[in-house]
Amino acid sequence: MKSTPSYAAAHGASLADPSAFWVEQARQLAWFQPPPEPVLSQEEGTGFTRWFRGGQLNTAYLCLDYHVAHGRADQLALIYDSPVTATVRQYTYRALLDLTARFAGGLRNLGVHKGDRVLIYMPNMPEAVVAMLACARLGAVHSVVFGGFAPQELAMRIDDAQPRAIICASGGLEFNKVIPYKPLVDTAIAQATHQPAHVVVLQREDVVQAELQPHRDVDFREVLQAAPVPAVPVEATDPLYILYTSGTTGKPKGVVRDTGGHAVALKYSMGAVYGLQPGETMFSASDIGWAVGHSYIVYGPLLQGCTSVLFEGKPVRTPDAGTFWRLLAEYKVQVMFTAPTAIRAIKKEDPEGQLASQYDLSHLRYLFLAGERCDPATYEWAGHVLGVPVVDHWWQTESGWPMLATSVGLSDVPPPCAGSAGQPVPGYHVQILDEGGQPVPANTTGLVAVKLPLPPGCLPTLWQDDARFQRSYLDTFPGYYLSGDGGYQDAHGYFFIMGRVDDVINVAGHRLSTGQMEELLAAHPAVAECVVLGIACPLRGQRPVGLVVLKDGQTISEAQVEQELVGLIREKIGAVASFRQAAVVKRLPKTRSGKILRKTMRQLADGEDFTVPSTIDDPLILAEIRAVLQRRQVGHAFESLAGNLAP
Ligand code: COA
Ligand code: AMP
Repeated sequence: MKSTPSYAAAHGASLADPSAFWVEQARQLAWFQPPPEPVLSQEEGTGFTRWFRGGQLNTAYLCLDYHVAHGRADQLALIYDSPVTATVRQYTYRALLDLTARFAGGLRNLGVHKGDRVLIYMPNMPEAVVAMLACARLGAVHSVVFGGFAPQELAMRIDDAQPRAIICASGGLEFNKVIPYKPLVDTAIAQATHQPAHVVVLQREDVVQAELQPHRDVDFREVLQAAPVPAVPVEATDPLYILYTSGTTGKPKGVVRDTGGHAVALKYSMGAVYGLQPGETMFSASDIGWAVGHSYIVYGPLLQGCTSVLFEGKPVRTPDAGTFWRLLAEYKVQVMFTAPTAIRAIKKEDPEGQLASQYDLSHLRYLFLAGERCDPATYEWAGHVLGVPVVDHWWQTESGWPMLATSVGLSDVPPPCAGSAGQPVPGYHVQILDEGGQPVPANTTGLVAVKLPLPPGCLPTLWQDDARFQRSYLDTFPGYYLSGDGGYQDAHGYFFIMGRVDDVINVAGHRLSTGQMEELLAAHPAVAECVVLGIACPLRGQRPVGLVVLKDGQTISEAQVEQELVGLIREKIGAVASFRQAAVVKRLPKTRSGKILRKTMRQLADGEDFTVPSTIDDPLILAEIRAVLQRRQVGHAFESLAGNLAP
């Protein structure tokens, strides 16, 4: 038997000769056409990194057909557990292949071919996984949109990706509240310039029935009646999917995932990072609308021949704060993945973790956390309640798989440490840089960057926007990918990711742009100027609050303007933004050059120590802001915490 490589050896080898390292990992996959060496190249014209050029494969084939042909046909591929609809359904690899091949046939009959885009707007349900895999089978590029986004966000994605078809469910359930998805899709299509040829609708009779538009709309189950089709070979460099994520402006970034790099990286990560062997079970409590859901509900577990648990519900109140633990016991889960915010929600309802003690968690080996910084208290609580190591690990939609972690599948790996996201995963050369792009000494906070080349799986570019990719990530420090996060590395090599350094915030593990919210608030007729701060929230990690200056002569009351602004963000971005508070201020503090002092105001609200910048235009304004925050109980420093804890 081959011995497990040590973490240090694997990481060292991946940096010393990336091409040789990844060629070895690529051999773990059944390529239709293996890539010629060297497998790392630069794209002509842009100079962007490309992996496995010349190789041909199909991700759905690797996730399904390969396993069916190699003894896993009767093993469970997917377990769907939905307390909100009181449903459990289990799919073997054979069954999932059959559904996928037939749905792919149906999509092809609707005119979906290799390279076409397909937008998917569905809650966590097996049909969504089938839709994703069916696109992959055809070489079509899927773009899944999280259900909490409003029609305008959908419309932006429709116009950017120009999908031939949209696949949606009639609706979803949020804590027993029905969210009809189909009317949101209809509104989005009405707002968009690009018109998809078809909308494929999964009728969820037990949730809500959707109206179908003649000629354009098709029933999901009819599409599923088609004859199965085989997997289409695609180039390693062809896109598998586009996943939109918040940038600093109103326009989301279309992160592109290529086919070959993604398959190689995810397969590698399943063993090296998560320590999962084929046949074992993973439960990622995320949503298929996020990168975590793409990578570790769908593609990672299936590429590795594992069983994936797909959960439709919340960590609490569906039906109680023991729901995750029930899944761990019932499906004998070895590795679980969720966001710290979910653990905080559970801890709030079951502070002693008594519900966990009712279940047999003996199969669980690790709890992995990501999506936001994990505070040490949550980290310690989870470890204590579950009795397994908790691994905080760091990644982004852009990377698609972890950049920092405790890679538990490798030997001699330094153990996890509270507050730290661990050490660089093989393939990643993570460094902390100062504002001038120079590496800083240990324990010094700076900008978190990754030295190029990025390993396979990371975004090769943004959808049809090479210039924005270059500008957003590569221009600041030539030779580095800039993550947008700040943090430090300690003397033992552990990295601590402390938060974003740009206008992006993390609300309940969901990434949102305060810049986009500001653009929307500023468009309100009564608002002259505004700022949106991501202030600390004991449940969601961060939550957005608006401070607005009204135009001269406005007589609208503060309560009225707040209600309208809250409604505006809900309507334009969606409920997921959790924008629930806006206060009127007379002026905003600025530097003499006119830059709004966002960070200072956030520190003020959070009750952090701060020094008043020497460049401040008028220090009195900060005192005014403090008085408003106090009056409105905005922020940790001023609020009565109970009011903001309710989910
Ligand atoms: N479809 C439609 N609406 C959605 C949605 C979805 N998929 N997900 C969230 N929403 C809505 C919610 O219903 C809520 O609406 P409301 O303001 O009308 O009540 C709003 O968006 C805010 O959602 P959220 O912040 O998730 O609050 P919540 O009260 O529903 O749940 C938690 C709070 C902590 C339980 C929940 O956020 C959670 O489970 N977080 C884990 C996050 C996670 O898994 N992140 C993935 C990254 S790894
Ligand atoms: P997303 O692209 O939605 O996955 O969000 C990525 C962002 O989430 C990162 O840029 C970080 O700001 C934050 N993040 C993710 N994981 C962690 C972590 N383990 N620790 C701290 N921040 C994290």
